[in-house]
Amino acid sequence: MKKLFAALVFAALPALAFGAAGNYPLDKVDIDLTDKAGMQDGARTFANYCMGCHSAQYQRYERVADDLGIPHELMLDNLVFNDAKIGDHMKIGMKVEDAKVWFGAAPPDLTLVARVRGTDWLYTYLRTFYDDPTRPLGANNMVFPNVGMPNVLVDLQGRQYIGCKQVQVVEGGKRQFDPLTGTPITHEACDQLAIEPKSGTLNEEEFDTKIKNLVTFLAYSANPVKLESQRVGTYVLLYLAFFFVFAYLLKREYWKDVH
Ligand code: HEC
Repeated sequence: MKKLFAALVFAALPALAFGAAGNYPLDKVDIDLTDKAGMQDGARTFANYCMGCHSAQYQRYERVADDLGIPHELMLDNLVFNDAKIGDHMKIGMKVEDAKVWFGAAPPDLTLVARVRGTDWLYTYLRTFYDDPTRPLGANNMVFPNVGMPNVLVDLQGRQYIGCKQVQVVEGGKRQFDPLTGTPITHEACDQLAIEPKSGTLNEEEFDTKIKNLVTFLAYSANPVKLESQRVGTYVLLYLAFFFVFAYLLKREYWKDVH
């Protein structure tokens, strides 16, 4: 009994660990796994900004190219930065031991991260890095406090800091506007993330789209056969419906003489 109890406590531990990782409210993101253009953009961001440290080693370049409709030549020229071949797994050269020294924690493989963390978590995590001079690499994160990862997207998003900012007044789920001038009504809120104006190359909306595309790519990568399964599933159901008609007619034929 004692052993069982101990096992239960240990089974619950990971949940507790995630719970402790901050209770910052997650922003929702609608992922569309049929959006190939979006996923191509996400794959490009992943290769350019993430693969310096993170691998996706259960995924092959060739599979990504074929699934997302990227010609092999283009894939090799633009998304492969080492001497990997098209059929290779998406591995990187950084060693775990080195990474631990540099960042305090090794960057985990990201092939399956969308399943582990969920897409809302990823979408919020990647948009909430902010300046924190007390951290070794100068950055902290709202959903993953004291994270070892530096703020790698700062050039795109701009410098984010915690301070006061004007947020739009929302009542009954609706943004409020001044009835005379039509300008948005705002109020000052503190302890909020604010972006230093003009410090990034993308505006807020463009950056959100970029991250949405990246998260869509990670969601695809965590389950590359999902679309295929749904397509096949439809055919199976259609076949069953079709087959049912004949099975029913046959049953009627067999039982006709029994009564
Ligand atoms: C300079 C190296 C570096 C780069 C570049 C980098 N990361 Fe990281 N990342 C890390 C490290 C180190 C950690 C581990 C942090 C920790 O555990 O404290 C991490 C953690 C993460 C995690 C959390 C994983 C988990 O479940 O604990 C995610 C998600 C992630 N990175 C995504 C990305 C994405 C997406 C990109 C590209 C936009 C990226 N990273 C670029 C170093 C990097």
